[in-house]
Amino acid sequence: MNDRRKLPVIPISPEKCTAVTIQFSSDSSAPKPVKKTGPVSTEQLQAAVRQALGAKASLGERPGLLKDTETAYDNRLESTIRPKTLADYIGQSALKDSIQIGLDAAKSRAEALDHLLLYGPPGLGKTTLAMVIAQEMGAEIHITSAPALERPRDILGILMSMKPGSVLFIDEIHRLNKVAEEILYPAMEDFALDRTIGKGEGTKILRVPLPRFTLIGATTKAGSLSGPLRDRFGLIYRLNFYSEQELSNIILRSARILNIEASPEGALAIASRSRGTPRIANRLLRRVRDFMAVKKAGETLINEPIAREALDLFDIDPIGLDPTDRQLLKLIIENFSGGPVGLDTLASTLGEDPRTLEDVYEPYLLQAGLINRTPRGRTATGNTYRHLGYRLPAGFAEQAQLELESS
Ligand code: ADE
Repeated sequence: MNDRRKLPVIPISPEKCTAVTIQFSSDSSAPKPVKKTGPVSTEQLQAAVRQALGAKASLGERPGLLKDTETAYDNRLESTIRPKTLADYIGQSALKDSIQIGLDAAKSRAEALDHLLLYGPPGLGKTTLAMVIAQEMGAEIHITSAPALERPRDILGILMSMKPGSVLFIDEIHRLNKVAEEILYPAMEDFALDRTIGKGEGTKILRVPLPRFTLIGATTKAGSLSGPLRDRFGLIYRLNFYSEQELSNIILRSARILNIEASPEGALAIASRSRGTPRIANRLLRRVRDFMAVKKAGETLINEPIAREALDLFDIDPIGLDPTDRQLLKLIIENFSGGPVGLDTLASTLGEDPRTLEDVYEPYLLQAGLINRTPRGRTATGNTYRHLGYRLPAGFAEQAQLELESS
């Protein structure tokens, strides 16, 4: 398998469209160019393409190294280093094993894979995994995102263009509107569309058959999916944060593809500040390379001291927190005496969108034990005080215990 093979560059044109389609061929030759399925606005298309390529600017418009705002150049590189097969895909081993079984079984029966729901924090590889699955099945993938499926005809248009075995990837599936969701029920369950013909007494429901396809839904909020939609997925998997060793392997693989020299220690130094997230690890690798090119003329190897110096300069601390994370934690400690403080209050004090706080910033802070979520709001933990160099207030342990018990 040649890692350097490029995915097609996906054009963002002023034409109207709701999904991007990538054709993978089973003979592993270059993917066919992208097709678009219409009609919607350019803005929605751009959102869908950004979603498809992992930029997800809708989740956080603020520029920053760790969060989800990327340049077109970053996106192109991202698609170059994206793993193309399950064997290339590093980490998530339990999930990969069960997907491999599903794929082998589906292939042996010459059927489409069961519908699959992937959930977990942003940047952990949900879109990548969907593309890997399509490629492994030798199928085409239609990539869209729920906010782009505003009108019934948006989802209908995509479903009608499906071929046997096609994969439909819907990102942010928890944001699907009710009408689109109801169109999806029979499509997922019976591979059919129910079209209403006529009006009043003469109304008839016409069942239009669809080819068997695989829907892959991705969400950062599995709990926000309606029960009937969740129940129609045969396979439901959670993506977890990656270990430092896994991230370091991802960095070394990406460095090889991008012709960047990195030592194992250099890769590990970047991995340890990547918040358990491959997208961040790959982005930091490129920024450290930029730092080396500008500040270390003549040096060609990213080693541990260079990685550390670069990331210190970019103000990313030893556990991967950026200035906004630290500001958020300081705010809880300084303005709200360690909490609890409600999400909306926190967001408005920070001048940040509550959804961005919840979906982008909080998952890693929770995982790292730097905040707790209680019914009365967010609280700082002992780790938060220690990490930021504050003294624990008197009675902190007892108060924290009370908060935890009430949660
Ligand atoms: N790039 C981004 N995510 C990756 C993964 N899980 N494995 C390999 N390369 C990646």
